[in-house]
Amino acid sequence: MTKETLTITDNRTGRTYELPITDNTIRAMELRQIKVEEDEFGMMSYDPAFKNTASTRSAITFIDGANGVLCYRGYPIQELAANCTFLEVAYLIIDGQLPTQSQLDEYSGFIKRHTLIHENVKRLLNGFQYDAHPMGMLISLVAALSTFYPEAKLVDYPDMRQLQMTRLVAKMPTLAAFAYRHSRGFPYAYPDPELSYTGNFLNMIFRRAEPSYTPDPVLVRALDVLFILHADHEQNCGTNAMRAVGSSRVDPYSATAAAAAALYGPLHGGANEAVLRMLTAIGEVKNIPDYIARVKEGEFRLMGFGHRVYKNYDPRAKIIKEIADQVFEVTGRNPLLDVALELERIALEDEYFIKRKLYPNVDFYSGIIYQAMGLPATMFPVMFAIPRTVGWLSQWAELIVDSEQAIARPRQIYTGSNEREFVSIDQRG
Ligand code: CMC
Repeated sequence: MTKETLTITDNRTGRTYELPITDNTIRAMELRQIKVEEDEFGMMSYDPAFKNTASTRSAITFIDGANGVLCYRGYPIQELAANCTFLEVAYLIIDGQLPTQSQLDEYSGFIKRHTLIHENVKRLLNGFQYDAHPMGMLISLVAALSTFYPEAKLVDYPDMRQLQMTRLVAKMPTLAAFAYRHSRGFPYAYPDPELSYTGNFLNMIFRRAEPSYTPDPVLVRALDVLFILHADHEQNCGTNAMRAVGSSRVDPYSATAAAAAALYGPLHGGANEAVLRMLTAIGEVKNIPDYIARVKEGEFRLMGFGHRVYKNYDPRAKIIKEIADQVFEVTGRNPLLDVALELERIALEDEYFIKRKLYPNVDFYSGIIYQAMGLPATMFPVMFAIPRTVGWLSQWAELIVDSEQAIARPRQIYTGSNEREFVSIDQRG
């Protein structure tokens, strides 16, 4: 019978240690017993950027990166994208179960009730420059919500957690749309409770002088699918920020602001904006070989390509490619699509990308669709943050009740000196 243990021999001392293996993992704390001298600290693992360290047990999202598989709560992303609305998937991710029709109706009612934001939030927005990046505004507004709901600090109460999660899922589209309208100088458009989650978002973004706005059903459906695809992605940079900040037991608005800040970066959710700028800079298909050559020389990265976990085609990118055609039927074809398709074709045949298993990720095509819908590139990370809030909140709620978790506080290998002689200021050269 095989033993579920790992035997380590410390060649410095000749001692042998047997560590238990669970879920193909050893506990880093087990390494602490490995020492040369009895009074020393003990061994640690060193893993910058968490490339091979599991930081939690989680039952929310499963990714098999080698085979391009993504499931939320056990359901493949393809089935959810084909059959559900975004709110149905939000309920699934947060609650763990797909809702019945009456549960979904009730949840939808709660969400609609919470879409409004305090009027003072508009005053905050008005303090931003006209050209402020909408993602910077969104991050600030989410953080500011903690001051409107001070009871959100009571993170140990399940009802209180549930209330804040409903509030934030409901208010994210409103905050995002208001940030957009501020940047365009448009008057704010208020939520319309007659519309679905995504339909209402389109209303708050695009409504002009008409008394009521009727969103195109194809765009509503496309947005539902895009939001479903972005709802969660296990322990990515933003979620890790949500969990790390949430582990201090701060309120979920502050933790979500931190997660959104992480998402803003060009290597993460900011990549969709960077992809669009890249495609615009390439401009024409004939310029692609030269651009790829510069990527291979290490001048810059091919944005929207590569992933820490997927070493195969990102399943989300496949679905996005499919809905792009439906959106273009309504909006007209985005000419950048030809550049993107040809870029993908050339890259996937190139030894550099094949060897490193670099495939298009979720951000490669999403920006082209959002641009066709009429959104500026600065809104792309915001469009990522709205649905990802569901993932952040459910990961946070999982963390709060996980008795194994504690405040996130990594160790370091100190590389400085601790033997320097102090020199008074008048003596320093
Ligand atoms: N273009 C060119 N080369 C790349 C790229 C790219 N997009 N991505 C990785 N590489 C190369 C990298 O230079 C390295 O080569 P070498 O072994 O010769 O040094 C190798 O591939 C491995 O790269 P890595 O940086 O160790 O991989 P990582 O797992 O740390 O990084 C990543 C993952 C997503 C940050 C990276 O692939 C990247 O920067 N991609 C472009 C930005 C992007 O599209 N981000 C969106 C990710 S998906 C949505 C999300 O998470 O928000």
